[in-house]
Amino acid sequence: MSLPLVLMLSLFSTMMTLGGAARDRPPAIFVFGDSHVDSGNNNYLLASLSKADHFPNGIDFKASGGMPTGRFTNGRTIADIIGEEIGQLNYAPPFLDQYTTGAALLNGVNYASGAGGILNKTGALYVSRLGMDLQIDYFNSTRQQLDEFLGKIKAGELVQKAIFSITIGANDFLNNYLTFISDFEAPDAYINRLMIALKDQLTRLYHLDARKIVMGSIVPIGCIPYQTSLAPLDETGCAALPNQLAIKYNGKLRDLLTELNQIFPGSNFLYANLYDLLMDVITNHQSYGFETASDACCGNGGVHGGIIACGPASSLCGDRSKYVYWDPYHPTEAANLIVAKKLVHGDAKDISPINIQQLI
Ligand SMILES: *[C@@H]1O[C@H](CO)[C@@H](O)[C@H](O)[C@H]1NC(C)=O
Ligand SMILES: *[C@@H]1O[C@H](CO)[C@@H](O)[C@H](O)[C@H]1NC(C)=O
Repeated sequence: MSLPLVLMLSLFSTMMTLGGAARDRPPAIFVFGDSHVDSGNNNYLLASLSKADHFPNGIDFKASGGMPTGRFTNGRTIADIIGEEIGQLNYAPPFLDQYTTGAALLNGVNYASGAGGILNKTGALYVSRLGMDLQIDYFNSTRQQLDEFLGKIKAGELVQKAIFSITIGANDFLNNYLTFISDFEAPDAYINRLMIALKDQLTRLYHLDARKIVMGSIVPIGCIPYQTSLAPLDETGCAALPNQLAIKYNGKLRDLLTELNQIFPGSNFLYANLYDLLMDVITNHQSYGFETASDACCGNGGVHGGIIACGPASSLCGDRSKYVYWDPYHPTEAANLIVAKKLVHGDAKDISPINIQQLI
């Protein structure tokens, strides 16, 4: 009787050990970008006109009991879902939250900011926002805090293993190039300028020990209700020019990431194909269970409710899971879930050269 028990116990303890190893702390996630992934930074920018700190934003966000957090969607962002998929128990907290210090840094930090872009001038109409240069300055400050908290060697290891998730660039078109604040400039010249700035920014991150960088392409910005409520539409039902600009930018971005992978030893720059992933959801929305890929769930004005931002006075759709777009600019949690899971587990057309699971 006693022998099987001993065997069982030893088997049990072996399983516990293996399970324990598998349950090592997941890599930290440092999130950079715009309102697609802002987890509350703009709440702290008093002068910002780009805020999601009011009902009904966050209505489906379980971690806050449905209270607004500053996320520009009804539930989780793509960055939140990626964090969950790789085993994070807490979402990366906003950098500007005063409690984001010490041990709270160890899971990663979110620097993203509504209206932010690659260029400093982008989003100027929203007054206050964190552009990409400033977001990296802030990461540099986190980096120094981690050095003090863990010691330089452990801090370096944490950062080298961490995922850097970057979702930026859409505002450089929507809230700069396509508005009256832009200098009159040909698309190619403007996109080149974006690439020069971005190369500098990604190089700075590499020098701060970032090695695993997931760079999002620009989503189909011609298909957002804000655009489709205003502009003449092409045969895909989207505004042609913004999508053409996004495609041009995305091509150059792919080339830049290939170049960076070659120049920086030990680096992994991944191209997250947000454009095609979201376009697939839009085009095939019915097969994904959505009823509409053109109307905003929360918004008013124009054909698709895409003129006036989502707020307490907006009309709100009945079933949020049936809408691809939450508001005039941002996808719903339901759409974010489809895209985020493909970034973690998908194939080379979704994310390349490897997916996030392989990156870890
Ligand atoms: C943008 O702003 C940041 C900080 O606000 C500054 O450090 C950086 O030099 C600026 N970049 C450019 C290209 O002007
Ligand atoms: C980080 O900050 C330090 C100290 O302010 C500065 O010397 C260094 O150049 C910064 N690094 C980057 C990549 O911005």
